[in-house]
Amino acid sequence: MTTQPQGRVVIAPSLLAADAGRLREEVDDVTRAGADWLHFDIMDGHFVPNLSFGPNVLAALRPHSALPFDVHLMISPVDPYVEAFAKAGADHILFHPEAGPHPHRTLQLIGSLGKLAGIVLSPGTPVESIAWLLELADIVLVMTVNPGFGGQRFLASQLPKIAALRRMIDACGRPIRLAVDGGIAPDTAALVLAEGADTLISGSAVFGAPDRAAVISALRGDPTGRTRDVGC
Ligand code: DX5
Ligand code: ZN
Repeated sequence: MTTQPQGRVVIAPSLLAADAGRLREEVDDVTRAGADWLHFDIMDGHFVPNLSFGPNVLAALRPHSALPFDVHLMISPVDPYVEAFAKAGADHILFHPEAGPHPHRTLQLIGSLGKLAGIVLSPGTPVESIAWLLELADIVLVMTVNPGFGGQRFLASQLPKIAALRRMIDACGRPIRLAVDGGIAPDTAALVLAEGADTLISGSAVFGAPDRAAVISALRGDPTGRTRDVGC
């Protein structure tokens, strides 16, 4: 369960779009299709206007998958639940800086549990808000839809934000992954990779496709199925 090295486009299917009655088979299927991580969207009906699942679902799937579990917390407050997700099998724990009063402390907490820590920027959240958080971040996730639902339309307005974060991360000099989540399909994947993203979260495009391996290859920018490198 190690994170992929920098330089490779990482694909993380979002299980929010999977068939919830067959989650284990869905995990096996996208794993065979070439997924690098599995993305779990955790929603509380308060921070976002939708409910999904809790740590019990991670714990149930954990013995059946060797892929890193990438856990996107859309919950507030966030700190009281971090340890439960860590114990349930999360490898990466990501949260929104608006979800608590002290996001720097939340990053410290995630790191202290031995997990990779991620910050998520909603479409209305400026890049400047995370400038002083980058020192503790392993992943920065740019949302190209408003959090809460799968299947929404990609917001091209966020492309300059991805480019700005690419510059901030390069200047920072630490190996921070730059992920994008929301409306990611092969056409929009090409747009965000061109701005410097290196990690793609995709729900409907992957789980809605009959040939998931073909979609995962196309997301990487290579319809032949070979892995493409990005410069960084
Ligand atoms: C939205 C979630 C996304 C969502 C992506 O709040 O964070 O991960 O599942 O779904 P698609 O790819 O359908 O936009
Ligand atoms: Zn997500």
